[in-house]
Amino acid sequence: MIELKNITKHYQIGPSSLTVLNQLNLSIKKQDMLAIIGESGSGKSTLLNILGLLDQNYLGHYQLNGQILKQQSDQELSQLRNQHIGFIFQSFNLLERMSVLDNIVLPLTYRRQSNKQNYAAATKALEQVGLADKAHVSPSTLSGGQKQRIAIARAIVTQPSILLADEPTGALDPKVAAGIMQLFKQLNEAGLTIIMITHDHELAKHCKQTQILRDGSLHNL
Ligand SMILES: Nc1ncnc2c1ncn2[C@@H]1O[C@H](COP(=O)(O)OP(=O)(O)OP(=O)(O)O)[C@@H](O)[C@H]1O
Ligand SMILES: [Mg+2]
Repeated sequence: MIELKNITKHYQIGPSSLTVLNQLNLSIKKQDMLAIIGESGSGKSTLLNILGLLDQNYLGHYQLNGQILKQQSDQELSQLRNQHIGFIFQSFNLLERMSVLDNIVLPLTYRRQSNKQNYAAATKALEQVGLADKAHVSPSTLSGGQKQRIAIARAIVTQPSILLADEPTGALDPKVAAGIMQLFKQLNEAGLTIIMITHDHELAKHCKQTQILRDGSLHNL
């Protein structure tokens, strides 16, 4: 599903260059559930941004669902992202002026489907995360754990092939974090492929595999 080969990423900071990823390889198959751990600054978010097609400025090869990614236009990239990838961040990134259901439906509005179909899909995603009763409230009235569930519903409403999560439980207390991990496990069992970044070795144990990002590449634990 995902093949990264010899991915190298430099950041140019003034006259000097910082190498964050160095000849990194990664192979992900359908229904994998991978945790990536690593020290702060080791390049975890940099890697996830490349995987999530948010950054194309790297060396090496990236193949996603059989398609080689190379110099796609911004429009093609957004389309690929919308079609294949669900993204979850530590900070939820919900729009508080919209209702929960309108937040979830948002990624579908870029597709040529009827409103009715879109809202039916959003309602189903909301049910999957266990918050059907919150459809019409503002996200500002929800707890952190509930907000993250809404963000997960928004990420899965497009039926992506892969879910990328950057410290999804970083802002949550341990009990709530464990609930989010249970939800990830359910989604994974139902067929979703998941790559999750975490600082927390205990949470990583919920995943099927763990790799550590160190010195610019991934190593098995
Ligand atoms: N846009 C940028 N320009 C220059 N340097 C950057 C940029 N983004 C990240 N870096 C540097 O690249 C390195 C890796 O950053 P990254 O955010 O990928 O780390 P991380 O593993 O996600 O860390 P954390 O666990 O703290 O989130 C850091 O040294 C950071 O300072
Ligand atoms: Mg990070």
